[in-house]
Amino acid sequence: MRIDVVTLFPDFVRQCAAVGVVGRAQQRELLQVETWNPRDYTTDRHRTVDSSSYGGGPGMVMLIQPLRATLEVMRNAAPEPVHVIYLSPQGARLTQGRVEALAKRPRIALLCGRYEGVDERLLTHEVDEELSIGDYVLSGGELAAAVIIDAVGRLQDGALNDAQSAEQDSFSDGLLDCPHYAKPVHDALGSVPEVLLSGDHAAIARWRQKQSLGRTWLRRPELLSQRALDAQSRALLDEFRREHVQYEQKRQNDAVDD
Ligand code: ADE
Repeated sequence: MRIDVVTLFPDFVRQCAAVGVVGRAQQRELLQVETWNPRDYTTDRHRTVDSSSYGGGPGMVMLIQPLRATLEVMRNAAPEPVHVIYLSPQGARLTQGRVEALAKRPRIALLCGRYEGVDERLLTHEVDEELSIGDYVLSGGELAAAVIIDAVGRLQDGALNDAQSAEQDSFSDGLLDCPHYAKPVHDALGSVPEVLLSGDHAAIARWRQKQSLGRTWLRRPELLSQRALDAQSRALLDEFRREHVQYEQKRQNDAVDD
């Protein structure tokens, strides 16, 4: 897969994409990340990329000309048609489902705004999709681009060492991930749940599914109302709820005793 990033801060984006799983995916040639700086495509002496906003008000707007020229060179740099994404808080919220769909494309481009944003006419004519990484305002699209590169890059075939781990991620089946434990079995901070040491793979899978359902119910209940649970999942969630109520009662009793 190829990801082209249009940004005034190409070094930042390249450095983000050079580390960890995504860096390795690039080394393995599973992923290619290219950056394009609109400042390199300006036509004036001062290399101007922004100007004040018509109608007044604070903040600058990124100009059409440098972005249009950059996007043209970017589009022509590879034969594949490119799906252009503008990153902004006004975009549709990024989800794991959207990440999975993007990861299947051969080529996407990420357009990073700075200042108050980009001239609307450029967005109308050059952009296929607008995405936000959450309901907060960043000072530019670069961090959002880094998020998308990471989320999409790790899904490329061969990027993760354990082929199963993407399937077990939080959200990949609409639920949060279960808790994980490693050495030591007993620690001052507590012990590893016994079932995980049992070697009983069916019991372990059942426990993990129950924890996933339970955590989702506790932390992100709206995710559960968005999906239909089968009978087995409903039974597991009921079991989790009963255990959770017992646990909370015990905790409160212990607190009173103290
Ligand atoms: N640019 C500024 N804020 C952003 C956000 N929340 N998501 C994506 N791009 C942004």
